[in-house]
Amino acid sequence: MKQATIIYDSKTGNTEKVALAIRDGLQKGGLEVLVEKVENAHHIDFFDYDLICIGSPSYMWHPIDSINNFLTKKHEDYRSKGLIKLDSPKVSGKHALAFCTYSGPHTGIAEATPVCKIIGQFFDHLGFNIVGEWCILGELHVSEEISTKGRMGDIRGRPNLKDLEKVRDDSEKLASSLN
Ligand SMILES: Cc1cc2nc3c(=O)[nH]c(=O)nc-3n(C[C@H](O)[C@H](O)[C@H](O)COP(=O)(O)O)c2cc1C
Repeated sequence: MKQATIIYDSKTGNTEKVALAIRDGLQKGGLEVLVEKVENAHHIDFFDYDLICIGSPSYMWHPIDSINNFLTKKHEDYRSKGLIKLDSPKVSGKHALAFCTYSGPHTGIAEATPVCKIIGQFFDHLGFNIVGEWCILGELHVSEEISTKGRMGDIRGRPNLKDLEKVRDDSEKLASSLN
């Protein structure tokens, strides 16, 4: 059975909802899945898994510090083991999914795409195959104004049931597509 792990941080629950929907979809697609919040994930060796999923809220259009620090530390560990190679040759059978939640009040999805790109780069450097960069809208729970008057319109309640259903479906398809 193929193994996946989902590592995420979430301050107000949006990214956690997405992480759990990914778990449900991957399990439906036949993968064995471990889910960990980032503070409990430092022991995880990415190379033990067929698929690593990393999720973060967008903070100032970057990954949240906890995720960035975690990935930076892992990068240093793998570099010291000689696993960050010039030309980043592909490692067979190793896949990574980057996901984030965002509110996009000012410039919309452009506030989310860098988050997934940065996460993805850590895995691209290791030679993992990037299978997706998923940006999911999430209400900014502390501000009704931002959650109703920003570029993305009324995002209260996002990610909603429909958003999470799509994440589950896409995750199931992803699980089935892994070689
Ligand atoms: C301090 C802070 C900074 C944020 N910066 C951005 C941002 O630059 N762009 C954006 O689209 N959303 C931003 N957000 C909104 C969050 O990314 C969004 O609400 C996310 O879904 C929260 O995820 P969580 O519930 O998992 O913590 C910010 C939220 C906070 C609290």
